[in-house]
Amino acid sequence: MYNLLKGKRGIIFGALDKKSMAWRIAERAVEEGARVTLSNTAMAIRFGNVKELAEELGTQVIPADATNIEDLENVYTQSMELLGGKIDFVLHSIGMSMNIRKNKPYTEVGYDFYMKTLDISAVSFHKIIQAAHNLDAMNEWGSFVAITYIAAQRTFDKYNDMADAKALLESIARSWGYYYGKEKKVRVNTVSQSPTPTTAGQGIEGFNVFFEYAEKMSPLGNADSNELADYVVTLFSDLTRKVTMQNLFHDGGFSSMGMSEELMKQFLKK
Ligand SMILES: NC(=O)c1ccc[n+]([C@@H]2O[C@H](COP(=O)([O-])OP(=O)(O)OC[C@H]3O[C@@H](n4cnc5c(N)ncnc54)[C@H](O)[C@@H]3O)[C@@H](O)[C@H]2O)c1
Repeated sequence: MYNLLKGKRGIIFGALDKKSMAWRIAERAVEEGARVTLSNTAMAIRFGNVKELAEELGTQVIPADATNIEDLENVYTQSMELLGGKIDFVLHSIGMSMNIRKNKPYTEVGYDFYMKTLDISAVSFHKIIQAAHNLDAMNEWGSFVAITYIAAQRTFDKYNDMADAKALLESIARSWGYYYGKEKKVRVNTVSQSPTPTTAGQGIEGFNVFFEYAEKMSPLGNADSNELADYVVTLFSDLTRKVTMQNLFHDGGFSSMGMSEELMKQFLKK
């Protein structure tokens, strides 16, 4: 523990259960001295375990559909009241594709589902930032972070319309990073994480192959949720004040690799 977030206030979107990356990030932020509120959909609050996390962290869960700007404004208003001031950091750890859930391949997506994927997994980041902006809810040098995946830059079979959502998500970070940075010195970044065994991750067909392939390709191996939480708290902290509008790879080196010895051996065996 380094007290990196001492006195800071944050909002964590997307903790569903213990496997959620947002779960570990919330715990880690509190370990570093922050106070946080949690938010998820009413349905996720009912069926997941986020209330358990709220109890553990001595805080509250504020229900919100991240596609609804009024819900989001309410999250900020309530969080500022509960935490006693403006917000210093916000985590967006939200993703969902009905096309994936309903096994619709990319070549046959339903467009209602497709728009939903973009709205829930990407435009929600715009809305989360805009809601804060509308209410002037962020302190100067505040920090927004969203979790993304390398399918935004490269094509991965079965990642489906989530790839398009991640490309949009990363673009929103750059655009809002420009406007909010100029106005209030607020940072906006995305962190591109290794495959991680969570509810959303394991919903992707062939998740184990994604995981194993990346593990064998990356010189440092896949990054897990604990390591992600360590990295994200640095981005919430004052140690990274001039880092903004970036997509930051947290993937054990995967994004720079072409071929590794381990994978080469595996193919030579065959
Ligand atoms: N697991 C992986 O391999 C992996 C890798 C890279 C990036 N990511 C990204 O990390 C983020 C977090 O996912 P996770 O892997 O921790 O899985 P998760 O299933 O634990 O989290 C996804 C969260 O999104 C929430 N959500 C869905 N619809 C919502 C809505 N309308 N409003 C508000 N919240 C909503 C869910 O309730 C859930 O809490 C996602 O953006 C995901 O795409 C995951």
